[in-house]
Amino acid sequence: MTKSIDELGRLCGALLKAQPGPDGRQKVCDLLKPLLADNAFVDKAIPESTGERELLYEDPELKFCIFAEHKGGAKIGKPHDHGPSWAIYGQAAGETEMTEWELVKAPSKDGPGKVRRARIYKMTPGSAYVYNEGVLHSPSRTAPTRLIRVEGVNLDQFRALRPEYEEVP
Ligand SMILES: [Fe+2]
Repeated sequence: MTKSIDELGRLCGALLKAQPGPDGRQKVCDLLKPLLADNAFVDKAIPESTGERELLYEDPELKFCIFAEHKGGAKIGKPHDHGPSWAIYGQAAGETEMTEWELVKAPSKDGPGKVRRARIYKMTPGSAYVYNEGVLHSPSRTAPTRLIRVEGVNLDQFRALRPEYEEVP
């Protein structure tokens, strides 16, 4: 059954309240998967007219946020984590190639961190993954994509603070 965004937000809130750690986030992720493959939900939540990043829901109590994202063109992302927060990437249209990275050396004031490629997988419509605090990852795409993203807190405030990482073999 197609859910409204507010209904989805309230359901996510209930799951995260019952299990505030990674288990609750995984349940949110599992709740999203069938919706991401539901054309009626996707057309309503992330229509073609959606911009790069639009806030759909912010929980008044827990402060987690649900965003609709419509990414245009090709892009190779850089390795990053989400600072003090977690995030869920849910693929609704197009494909994302996700790389997860193992931390070899933490970034410092003397230079960028070092990372080693740990695993690569393809996200297709209906797939969703949780990135807990500190999990380094980089999304890439070769064509436009549409996603639902859930962030533990609105990550706009941390985006400018992202450290640089260099790949090592
Ligand atoms: Fe990310």
